[in-house]
Amino acid sequence: SAAEKGGYDYFMLKEIAEQPKAVADTLLGRIDAAGSLTLDELRIPDSVLREVDKVVIVACGTAYHAGMIAKLAIEHWTRIPCETELASEFRYRDPILDQRTLVIAISQSGETMDTLMALRHAREQGAKVLAVCNTNGSTIPRESDAVLYTHAGPEVAVASTKAFLTQLVACYLVALYLGQVRGTKWGDEIRAVVHDLAAIATEVDRVLETMEPVRELARSLADKDTVLFLGRHVGYPVALEGALKLKELAYMHAEGFAAGELKHGPIALIEEDLPVVVVVPSPRGRSVLHDKIVSNIQEIRARGARTIVIAEEGDEAVAPYADHLIRIPVTPTLLQPLVSTVPLQVFACELATARGNEVDQPRNLAKSVTVE
Ligand code: AGP
Repeated sequence: SAAEKGGYDYFMLKEIAEQPKAVADTLLGRIDAAGSLTLDELRIPDSVLREVDKVVIVACGTAYHAGMIAKLAIEHWTRIPCETELASEFRYRDPILDQRTLVIAISQSGETMDTLMALRHAREQGAKVLAVCNTNGSTIPRESDAVLYTHAGPEVAVASTKAFLTQLVACYLVALYLGQVRGTKWGDEIRAVVHDLAAIATEVDRVLETMEPVRELARSLADKDTVLFLGRHVGYPVALEGALKLKELAYMHAEGFAAGELKHGPIALIEEDLPVVVVVPSPRGRSVLHDKIVSNIQEIRARGARTIVIAEEGDEAVAPYADHLIRIPVTPTLLQPLVSTVPLQVFACELATARGNEVDQPRNLAKSVTVE
């Protein structure tokens, strides 16, 4: 009913709008006044976490994209090797797991069969399993050694939005907590990130307030057949997520690529007026990556692509090559997906609506996939 949708036309729009609160709720009570993390609910003793020598993340779909970003955060903040794998592939390749492996199973519903089977396999091999989950008492957290709940609130739309942002927040917390208990040399950075995380809900809110041009752009592309998405580092999973949203909702051919792979094949796809969304890393910090992506944008534009560039406020280097420029707030590199994903959600939702599609219930899809 309209009341359930809180005045929005679709649950997806309501859930996109709820993201600042969802992010804040997921942080709530988990950072103390001194800026330290207090994840008492984790229930895996610090002594065990100190011994962990490998982290393996398993998940599907959007949760898998959160896991790809989590890998970068975990390796950067803890220096523990981490791999992220599609849950549906994981157990079929005889993965190497033991008591010192921490497996993180990310799932909004907590009922995804592929993810459940992956975690069962991991526990059989003696690994500890931590669930990052949005649904209290669901199967995945019940069968895990510990759970860190995301507090996104119920997500009704099939396309995951607020769950994704809170999965990221929860994974950042796990990564920072691992860094904290292991006393890695990143201590000061951890405190700085905790500080930035606490401010992020406001930034997400600011992004939401500037989405009208994105909606306009989406409507203007309603008759296109294909949209490509490019990104690097954390922007690569964001590109994959943007493409997944467009497939699910707009039923369009959409593909995400790591921008560095362009020249290894995908650049052959570029033709006159093809819309290409580029997620640009911050020019601060990893400026090498930024320079490289600017030349990627130049390359595809020279071949006729219509460039839709998502870049930080104040990033002027991209402006000359952007047919459409979508600004996002200045954010620390690893946290950028919390703001860069939002325009892609809005884009897909609006494009789907313009094509006359049912946004909350896309064809052929179920909210949680309880079969393998
Ligand atoms: C996202 O928009 C999808 N509908 C889908 O990929 C989803 O993220 C995936 O099925 C995993 O679901 P889960 O988080 O409930 O495990």
